[in-house]
Amino acid sequence: MYDENNRQQEFGRLLLEKSPQEVHEKLHSMAVLMTYYRCAVLEIETKFKVLDAQFSLSHERNPIESIDTRIKSPESIREKVERKGLPMTTQAIQENINDIGGVRVICSFLDDIYMLCDCLLQQDDVRLIAIKDYIKNPKPNGYRSLHLIVEIPIFLYNEKRMVKVEVQLRTIAMQSWANLEHRLRYKKNLPPEVLARTADTLNECAKMSNELDVKMQEIRRIIEDGQEQSD
Ligand code: GTP
Ligand code: MG
Repeated sequence: MYDENNRQQEFGRLLLEKSPQEVHEKLHSMAVLMTYYRCAVLEIETKFKVLDAQFSLSHERNPIESIDTRIKSPESIREKVERKGLPMTTQAIQENINDIGGVRVICSFLDDIYMLCDCLLQQDDVRLIAIKDYIKNPKPNGYRSLHLIVEIPIFLYNEKRMVKVEVQLRTIAMQSWANLEHRLRYKKNLPPEVLARTADTLNECAKMSNELDVKMQEIRRIIEDGQEQSD
């Protein structure tokens, strides 16, 4: 776990400000900003937990296997700010970096991903900013997931703020492929010949994981149809 002291120290190191007062103010405003993202991530996590609970009552199964949440680390924020040529200000961060708050929802079946996405987007306090469907259009390496950037209000004691959160929805099979691929290759600057030699097999594994998803969903459908007939 990344504790708050660590976070403060890292921001301190990142900021080469002139006066202690300026450093203090900047640290404070960054800490406040991170709190907004933590609140927004909590809100989104709760929305999915509510959907899971409701669905399990009506359908006697849980569409969600697990939910992971994370706040982007200060090093990653700095890296992205620098890569995009932005100033390290709270305003630039809020306007240009959409994945500071992240919620990853691991679903049981393929169709649960789209069902949960629709349910989330139907809620009148959720605004869709962007959607990337890497399931219908996998990335060239085979990566599959449904990505959303949404904006939701958080209610503080004296104000309401709109905060962006990145939501990734994937199945267990997509998750295991992405985890292993991430460990092996993602953003690792590997030599081109190594990338080329592993690309086909990695893609094949992604296709196998997709077949697994499609087949498991088919099995579920047959079982559910059978149950309906016997009821
Ligand atoms: P980032 O700068 O990494 O945030 O990517 P982006 O802004 O282009 O957004 P995109 O929606 O493509 O990816 C966002 C996140 O999805 C990444 O930070 C990863 O968590 C995950 N992701 C995207 N592509 C891959 C991939 O090829 N492999 C794995 N393992 N994860 C990926
Ligand atoms: Mg990211």
